[in-house]
Order: sequence, then C-alpha cells, then structure tokens
Amino acid sequence: MARPFYITTPIYYVNARPHLGHAYTTILCDVLNRFHKSRGEETFFLTGTDEHGDKIMAAAKKEGLTPEQYTDKISGLFRDLWPRLSVAPDRFIRTTEKHHIQTVQKVLAALYEAGDIYHSSYTGMYCYGCERFVLERELVDGRCPDHGTEPEQIAESNYFFRMGKYQEWLIGHIKDHPDFIRPERYKNEVLSFLSEPLEDLCISRPRSRLAWGIPLPFDEDYVTYVWFDALLNYVSALDWPDGEAFARFWPEARHVVAKDILKPHAIYWPIMLKAAGIAPYKHLYVHGYWNLDSAKMSKSLGNVVEPLDMVQKYGVDAFRYFLLREMAFGLDASFSEEALVGRINADLANDLGNLFSRVLTMVKKYTEGKVPDKTAALPEEPEWSLRLQAQEAQQGWEYGMKTLAFHKALMAVWTFIGQMNKYIDDAAPWELAKKEKEDKEQSPKLRLVLYELLEGLRHVAAWIWPVMPDTAEAMYGYLGLDPADARRDPGPWDGLAAGTRVKKPKALFPRVEYAPAERKPEGPEPPVKEQIEIDDFARVDLRVATIVAAEKVKKADKLLKLTVDLGEERTVVAGIAKSYDPADLVGKQVIVVANLKPAKLMGVESRGMVLAAVSGESLVLASPEAPVPPGTPLK
Ligand code: ME8
Repeated sequence: MARPFYITTPIYYVNARPHLGHAYTTILCDVLNRFHKSRGEETFFLTGTDEHGDKIMAAAKKEGLTPEQYTDKISGLFRDLWPRLSVAPDRFIRTTEKHHIQTVQKVLAALYEAGDIYHSSYTGMYCYGCERFVLERELVDGRCPDHGTEPEQIAESNYFFRMGKYQEWLIGHIKDHPDFIRPERYKNEVLSFLSEPLEDLCISRPRSRLAWGIPLPFDEDYVTYVWFDALLNYVSALDWPDGEAFARFWPEARHVVAKDILKPHAIYWPIMLKAAGIAPYKHLYVHGYWNLDSAKMSKSLGNVVEPLDMVQKYGVDAFRYFLLREMAFGLDASFSEEALVGRINADLANDLGNLFSRVLTMVKKYTEGKVPDKTAALPEEPEWSLRLQAQEAQQGWEYGMKTLAFHKALMAVWTFIGQMNKYIDDAAPWELAKKEKEDKEQSPKLRLVLYELLEGLRHVAAWIWPVMPDTAEAMYGYLGLDPADARRDPGPWDGLAAGTRVKKPKALFPRVEYAPAERKPEGPEPPVKEQIEIDDFARVDLRVATIVAAEKVKKADKLLKLTVDLGEERTVVAGIAKSYDPADLVGKQVIVVANLKPAKLMGVESRGMVLAAVSGESLVLASPEAPVPPGTPLK
C-alpha cells in the first residue's frame, strides 16, 4: 500500500488580492498533489488564509469594513480563484474558524502548563511588515530587507516561548535528516542562522494594541502572535490531536513556501511542534521569488501580475505549464508575458500541438481513424524503438517530479515529443501508405509506426496530467479513451486496444500573438521642454499633502478621487488607478500642485494635481523622503 501524501501551501494573508506569487506556490502544490494521486497514493492538499494581525486590521480599516467583513471578502477571492486555476485543494482553512482557534488555544495552554511560555517585559525593534520583533543583524542599513521600512522601537510586557531551549535539538534534527529542508542552500541558511544563540520568541500582543487575534487562554489581556496562530493551521486542519486525518497524514507532511517565510517554517515551527510533543513535519520545500521583467513585484509599483488576467488571455493549462517550466525550483525567476507567449507558441502549439494533430490526421487517413493492429509487424523493425525513448522520458519525468526539478521533468517529456516528431520524419508514414496503395497489400510497418505514435501520445498525456489536466484529459478523449484514465500513471506500453476509434483532431493550442501594451522606447524621455526662469517655477505652489481617503471614480478606470490634507482638506483627482489600490494610499504623503485652477474630471471637481513619475506603464507617486507636516511647501 502506497504511503499517504500531505502537502500544504502557506496560508495567505488577506491584506491583498491574490497575485502571481500565490498562484505559483498553490499551482505547484496542486501539481505535486496530482502527481502523487496519479500514483495511487492517498493525498491531502491544504491551503487557506491567514486572517489575524495588525496588517489585516489596518487593511480592513482602510476599506471601512469590520475585520470580519474584510476577511470574508478577501478570503473569498482566494477560495474562488483556485478552481479557476484548476487547483483542487481538499481543504481550505481560515484561521478565523472556531476549530482552529480552539486548537491554537489548546497548544498555548499545554506549552504554558509545561513552562515553555513565560511572562516578561521586552524592548525590541518591531517590523510591522514581518509582524515580528527583528534583530539588529537582520537589518540592512537599519531597514527590514523584505519591507524596506525601519522597525519601530517597542517596549511592552509580553509572553515568550522558550525557543532557545530547543536550539540544539533542532540543529541535530536538521543534520540527521538531510532532506528536512530542500533545496540545500536554504538548509545551509537555516543552519548558519542557528549557529548564533536563538532568542526566545515573543508570542503575544497586548489586546490594547491589537484586538484582532486569538486570546491567550491563560491571560485574556493578550492575543497570540500571528505566526504562532498561523503555523498551527497545518495540524488543526487535520484535527490534531485525535483526528484520523492527523494520524494518517501528519507523518507525511510537506510544506511548500517561498524564501520570505523560511525562518518561521524552518525554526519556529519545528520547535513549536517539538515543545507540543508533535513529531516534526517531513519536508520543507522552499522556492525563490517571481520577479516581473526583472523587478521585484510590488503593489506600489503597480507591476503585480493578476493570475486571472493571464488565464483569460492564454488559458489555464498554458499558464500552469509556463510557471513550472520557467522557474528552477529554489531560484528566482522572471515573469514576462512575452516569454509566456514564446513558450505557448514553441512548446505547446508547435511541438506538442502539431505532433498531436499530425498523428491523428495520419490515423484518420491511413487506418480509417482506428488504432491499428500491429501484430503483423516484424520484431526486428527499427520502428519498435520509440518505447525505449519513452522509458527514458518516464524516468526523467519521475525523477524531476520527485526531486522538485519540475522544469527538468517537463524537459524530459519535451525531449520525447521531439523524438516522436523525428520518428515520424524518419519513418515517413506517407511513403509507407503510398507503397501500400501501390502494392495493394496492408503495410505492417505503417501500422506499427502509427500504433507506436498513438501510444507515445497516450504516455505524454498521462505524464502531463498533473501540470495540464484539461489538455491531458482532452488528449485521452481524442485517443478514444476515457478522459478520467489520464489521471493515472500510463501503465505499461501497448495500453491502447487495436480498433479503438480516435477523434478528428483539433488544434490543442492555437498560436497566440504577443500584443504588448504600448511602451515608450528605452528609459525615460529626455527633457525637451523649453527652459524657464526661476520666477516661472516660483509661480507653482508645490505642497506636501497627506492622503486621508481614496476611492475609485465611477466609470473611469484610470481615476482615483483623493481627499488630501495640505493644511486644509481638498479633493484631488489623480490618474493613478492602474498603479495604486485606493486602500494602499491612505496615510501616504504626496506632492501636490496646490494652485492649479480647479477642473472637473468625470463629474468630480479636482483642486490640485498630485505628482508622479511616469515609468513605462506605471505611475510612481512622488513623496517626501521623510514625513513632514501636511501643507509644507517645496522650494
Ligand atoms: O507570509 N514569488 O502570507 P503571504 C513567489 N500568512 N512566491 C510568492 C511571491 C513571489 N513574488 N509573493 C508571494 C504569509 N509568494 C503568511 C504565511 S503560513 C503558516 C503563513 C507566495 O500572503 C509564497 O508562497 O505574504 C510566499 O511564501 C507566500 O506567497 C507569502 O504569502
């Protein structure tokens, strides 16, 4: 009996809409889950949303919603996205579920009881982006490397988890289990971090500062730290401690995360498990970042890729294929629509799509649309060779899937597709068919060649099913098979029954055009405006203003209506809706041309104009380098 398989994504914060990065991790888990399912393993695939904490509370406030309303809304966006990306989790967990809250409290109570949690006062540097206290040595130029912000000095009395106590155990565990953290580079990063003494982890926040969290069971004045709450989702979803699912799947747990959350998963989490008397998870798989056109994806730069946009334009299977083919697991990769279009046309339309329709067209033409009988073919024909290449492809595919080298797994399949195309050119079935007609005698070799090609396509379909389920199932349908059978390992060669009727071929992947949004030539435009006197410039009244409210202007997809404070409150309409979410703007300081004549834009009177840099498609707001009182003039 195959061992069960349990795979998890991070549970995503609901302070922002899902983007390409979330889609990648979740699709990857779905692919692994499908791969193991196709091998007959009993699998469990968990994803969900992380809904407590400062960031969520602040995001809800900005939208004028209660945290409950807000988390319902954004969590719903994640939940609804997954089926549209052909992602099929077994469970979608929310940290606001009652059962999860009870589990977190149960663990906290047990650790407190055991003396692993204690009360103490603490002064430290707190990064709101990371939602944790950070150490001096983690900062770059005094700023958090992940969020670019300076942490704030906070002094408060809190509860602490004795992590230091388990440091030696963790180092030993990582060394004894070389596969615990993969790839190697991240294991080394963790071991290097552990070479310095581990500080105890502050696991509470005073309720007076943060109300949106799980109350500590032993002190109602505090709520739990988000990471303590979030990490436990991986066991609460399995109904720890007594759930059948826990007993079955926990020993096979694999967590997939990006490098941003390596530390909580590689250090806090195993130690929390150890302290709670739960066996460590089996593997932590860590991948790199997707960048966009080589720049870090960021909401404020307006360069976030919306997965649904890509799927609507290019289809879900092509998108899934691209993500897995393009990123070498563990390393960063760059997303570009042009590269996606390139792969669709080359790998999918050309290599796979053409091969598929080429073979089916020949079967229609030469063997009446039926899987031929090849039993009369001579055993020494070189055309029996394709099966050997298929064996190699299968090995390469499985090895890649098992070692997280997804791009190599796909390359192994595409090498085979190339070999099939060459096989057709070498065997030249059209010549064999011509000869058959001339000789008025059936050609066993023609039948062998077509059979082997159909069988090769059946194998390709079953291999790619975890990555491209719709395509694989459609291919099975065209081959006259039950599409549901594509969900299983293809089994031995010669799986096709002679006489099965194949369908009329259709292009699996039509070629697509890359129509880039209009772009200016390289770099910013050179200054070409006429020279002015300093007095001309002095006529412009530039002021620093703080945005106090922001909303979309109805029926205008580029415009936002901003309420700004520049000593007095005013309304300014800005054409920045494509680059900024209203929710992200509140509290931000910008530069406003304060003495611009009022103008009406889409029915809204604008009194002033905000300044922004025009960078390709994006607008980047200009703001003072450090906060200054609203209304401060610029010279
Ligand atoms: O960290 N490239 O949630 P989160 C690749 N709630 N993957 C990316 C990415 C990018 N540019 N951006 C995001 C949290 N991701 C916590 C997790 S788990 C107990 C709690 C993916 O919404 C990647 O998987 O910030 C990364 O680890 C995760 O989203 C972070 O999601």
